[in-house]
Amino acid sequence: MTRTILATVALAVAATSFHAFAQDKAAKPSAATVEAYLKSTFGKAPPEWQARIQPDETLAICNATRNNVSSAQIEEIIKREIAKVKFPASGKFVGDWKAGLKVANNGRGGQFSDPPGTEAGGNCFACHQLDPKEVSYGTLGPSLKAYGKDRKFDPEEAKNAYIKIYDSHAVVPCSNMPRFGANNVLSEQQIVDVVGYLFDPESPVNK
Ligand code: HEC
Repeated sequence: MTRTILATVALAVAATSFHAFAQDKAAKPSAATVEAYLKSTFGKAPPEWQARIQPDETLAICNATRNNVSSAQIEEIIKREIAKVKFPASGKFVGDWKAGLKVANNGRGGQFSDPPGTEAGGNCFACHQLDPKEVSYGTLGPSLKAYGKDRKFDPEEAKNAYIKIYDSHAVVPCSNMPRFGANNVLSEQQIVDVVGYLFDPESPVNK
């Protein structure tokens, strides 16, 4: 009997705290609260890392609007982000797909524990299907299977993919995809090689 009462009380307590939690979530903390929380988690990080959690002008708009940007804000963001894209001097957008595969598969980089000089990857598989034979991939982003083939290997489309990877917000403001070139995660050459992985007819992405 006592046991049943105890269990019932425990259940009621659990239900109440879950309810409070659910209500908390529904209340949606303000952008300022989220920023302050994020800052507190970076407390012991070296000063040069602190800048990483300082939202730039574009992210500040995305945070404040919870990604519900107005058409004027969309225009403003695209204008600012497209200006950040640097194009390869060679004018060549479709690089070595084998090198691109390594970039797409590499999730290293941007961590406190990385030895200096660690080359960062794009971690594309974390969010996208690319090679249809690869069984492990995330689905936050759309499938990129046959990406080049579906676009008839059009050089203009390869250039658009370069822009997208260099600065995702230049195409879709407040995208969940990182800005690989604009934020110096990937080099121009790495991006050209990833575009090769998407656009070379010999790449497994298009097989
Ligand atoms: C954190 C998740 C994430 C990562 C990592 C990521 N992406 Fe994305 N990507 C997305 C999302 C979400 C979209 C769809 C929204 C958008 O277009 O911004 C997208 C869209 C794209 C598109 C446009 C697809 C279309 O509709 O035509 C391309 C191309 C692309 N990603 C390539 C890449 C490549 C290459 C990499 C690795 C260098 C990569 N992405 C890494 C999340 C991600």
